[in-house]
Amino acid sequence: MDADDIRTVLVVGAGTMGQQIALQCAAHGFAVTLLDTEQAALDRARARLDALAGHVASDPAFAHTDVVADVARISATTDPAEAAHAADLVSESVPEDPALKGRVFAELDRLCAARTIFATNTSSLVPSLFADATGRPDRLAALHFHQPVWSATIVDVMPHPGTSPETVETLVGFAGRIGQVPIRLLRESPGYVFNAMYNALNREAITLAANGVATVEDIDRAWTTVTKMPNGPFGMLDHVGIDTAWHITDYWARTLGDAQLTRNAAYLKSYLDQGRAGVKSGRGFYDYG
Ligand SMILES: NC(=O)c1ccc[n+]([C@@H]2O[C@H](COP(=O)([O-])OP(=O)(O)OC[C@H]3O[C@@H](n4cnc5c(N)ncnc54)[C@H](O)[C@@H]3O)[C@@H](O)[C@H]2O)c1
Repeated sequence: MDADDIRTVLVVGAGTMGQQIALQCAAHGFAVTLLDTEQAALDRARARLDALAGHVASDPAFAHTDVVADVARISATTDPAEAAHAADLVSESVPEDPALKGRVFAELDRLCAARTIFATNTSSLVPSLFADATGRPDRLAALHFHQPVWSATIVDVMPHPGTSPETVETLVGFAGRIGQVPIRLLRESPGYVFNAMYNALNREAITLAANGVATVEDIDRAWTTVTKMPNGPFGMLDHVGIDTAWHITDYWARTLGDAQLTRNAAYLKSYLDQGRAGVKSGRGFYDYG
């Protein structure tokens, strides 16, 4: 399938990233369906999408369209069968667990047309971990977004060794059609390009806090004062979601058997245990009112 043939996008997982990807695709003229296992997640996504549409409506990047109306056209379902048959492209944003991603794609493989391209938004895993489970490894690659999707407009296009060159070209072309700049990965590599650098910053920041070297506030103060960036690593992690950061840290702690990563995962978990998941729950390292 060529990028120009894509009309319908199925976004799987209606959380932080699924919402933003759905908005970006809908605002660029695609028919979008959001699929989640939880009706409550779809309800939250609808409310958040309405708020986001109002928020970005005055952004020059959306001057070409009525983003409020585009977002209203996004449909939502908990039924994979209803959602899958029309999809030209699946963009998956379920939690960072290779077994879960494999199960989600295996089910969609049975329900989607043969032409449908599968794209994963995994942050730290690589598509070859679950390529076989998808049933269509040649039509699977990573299409990895950065948030906020409408202003951090790069998207990594990363094949695994079994991805066909046509799939890569289709995803590169699709990225351009949704206002994103494609960053081509020449080979599979965890962390892509921006995230490889960003993850190193996060690991060091969390290590400082988990080892009791300095407070969250002072670590962020050190970063923002020198770089003049508006947020430090913990402020940025509140936007990413501490649950997502914990999933990633915990996975690599277990996979590598790394003692410091294990301490870092426990440190993140201590916030989750207090209901502090970041901006999405109103409280994280900071309070959002
Ligand atoms: N948060 C970020 O900044 C960011 C950036 C880029 C990539 N990612 C990646 O995107 C993916 C999703 O992250 P997120 O932060 O949006 O997570 P999230 O927890 O905010 O959302 C995940 C959603 O997936 C749903 N879900 C769970 N199982 C499902 C299933 N079987 N079928 C359909 N939906 C299901 C959940 O109900 C939830 O609504 C992860 O792989 C993450 O690493 C995250």
